[in-house]
Amino acid sequence: MRVLPSAPTSSVLSATSAALLASAQLVAGTSNLQNVLKNTHGSDEYRYPTDFTRGIMPIPVHSHNDYWRDVPFYTGLSHGCASTEADVWLYNDTLYVRTVGHEQSALTKARTLESLYINPILDVLKKQNPTTPFVTSPTKNGVFDTVSDQTLYFFIDVKTSGPETWNAVVSALQPLRDAGYLTTLKDNKTITNGPVTIIGTGNTPLDLVGPIADRDYFYDAPLSSLNDTEYAGVTSLISPIASDDFQATFGSVSDTDPVFTDEQLNTLRAQIATAKSRGIGARYWDTPYYPIRLRNAVWRELLREGVALLNADDLDAVAEFF
Ligand SMILES: *[C@@H]1O[C@H](CO)[C@@H](O)[C@H](O)[C@H]1NC(C)=O
Ligand SMILES: *[C@@H]1O[C@H](CO)[C@@H](O)[C@H](O)[C@H]1NC(C)=O
Ligand SMILES: *[C@@H]1O[C@H](CO)[C@@H](O)[C@H](O)[C@H]1NC(C)=O
Repeated sequence: MRVLPSAPTSSVLSATSAALLASAQLVAGTSNLQNVLKNTHGSDEYRYPTDFTRGIMPIPVHSHNDYWRDVPFYTGLSHGCASTEADVWLYNDTLYVRTVGHEQSALTKARTLESLYINPILDVLKKQNPTTPFVTSPTKNGVFDTVSDQTLYFFIDVKTSGPETWNAVVSALQPLRDAGYLTTLKDNKTITNGPVTIIGTGNTPLDLVGPIADRDYFYDAPLSSLNDTEYAGVTSLISPIASDDFQATFGSVSDTDPVFTDEQLNTLRAQIATAKSRGIGARYWDTPYYPIRLRNAVWRELLREGVALLNADDLDAVAEFF
């Protein structure tokens, strides 16, 4: 039995997702992963064209260090995570994705942004947007069959030199762009939600995102610095989600009630409110993961206070929260 948090769900979920989440139970993540993997390997026995992710309920969770998982992207997808991330390194015009281990020495030729993320995402979206005699105009369904209007946030964490690497990322998105699957900004004012919302983080240069009036990528602004001059003009048009380091922002928190001191709670509320006033969702990474009691108490408080995404490494555990 899964217990709903007392808080309303965050704005990153589409209205349909939020309603479903409030009324339904999650199907176990493990069997979903098996379903996803079985279907990745070419079975034609679909019960209906878009049932690839059937039964998976989107949850407002960021699959943290997703590229470390044995099966990147699909593991987060099978748990319903509305958000995922990859660390990318540019070498000889190819974007490599880090795996478990130490920085450069853990890179391998086979693990690229294209092979681990772009192609699998495209593959899932093609399954969710089939051409059948019943489809009269092209669809733009998202990765979740239960909630086709739910976007997948995809954070791309630039590890090598910002400008070169970011330009390579923008080029690497071309297959998703050609298929019309990306969330776009037009004339610096109109957002059109697509199945995938790209957010540059790490070394991504703000000046290669913010000033551009027509684009299909966004920027992960620093949540605790939104009042600084540099970020004063940042709204959801630039940064749909802003993030910050939990430990650096709050220091240590208590593992007995109350988790936050009054001062910490004021900081948390001010940061979330400042973000919300500009249409931006809040996310903290580097939240405590141990002891479990503390990890869970922090997740619960963050949800109650209205963060947009929880950051989680243990996806089975976080799924229990919804
Ligand atoms: C990059 O290219 C150079 C020159 O062709 C080659 O020596 C080097 O091994 C390549 N590095 C990677 C990571 O592919
Ligand atoms: C687009 O809007 C942002 C603020 O959201 C601004 O900084 C930028 O200069 C604008 N770009 C153009 C081309 O007008
Ligand atoms: C940002 O500035 C506004 C206006 O002064 C203030 O109300 C808000 O609390 C500030 N936000 C943060 C996170 O300090």
